Amino acid sequence: MTISMWIASIAWVSLVLGYTQRFNRKRHVPLMFFGIFTDILLVLYLQITRSAIQTALEFSLSIPQQIHILFSTIALVLYIPTLILGSKLVRNVGSATTKKRHKGIAVTALIFRTLGFCFMFSMWKG
Ligand code: HEM
Repeated sequence: MTISMWIASIAWVSLVLGYTQRFNRKRHVPLMFFGIFTDILLVLYLQITRSAIQTALEFSLSIPQQIHILFSTIALVLYIPTLILGSKLVRNVGSATTKKRHKGIAVTALIFRTLGFCFMFSMWKG
């Protein structure tokens, strides 16, 4: 595996561990922060070093590789409302539905991230 794949794996493990700790704020929040920001930094790094977005838009990749990019991008976009709603919960400033919305959007993000993570291995040149 490449170093980027190892970093992506560490981020994903952190998100899964964070999910298992969702009822424990002290553990849930730092694990999710670590996973999300590692993912964001990795995308920035891949963009700077390999123009990842341009490569994706050229559609020169295989179907599984394109699925990897599509699903991972959806997860990254969903991280934004996840972070906003999560930080409202931390600060206790949300409404009655904040937790429900956080739960729905965050779990959707994690599902896309997990599927994108599985398809990441189609990028592996062995
Ligand atoms: C993809 C990332 C994330 C996932 C999958 C996720 C998932 C969840 C789920 C399912 C719950 C509801 C637990 C329940 O059933 O009551 C929850 C609660 C919560 N989440 Fe997240 N979350 C994520 C990221 C975050 C982030 C980044 C923050 C902080 C900025 C955060 C803060 C919270 C808080 C404060 C709660 C309430 C915990 C409690 O019950 O006291 N989450 N999260």
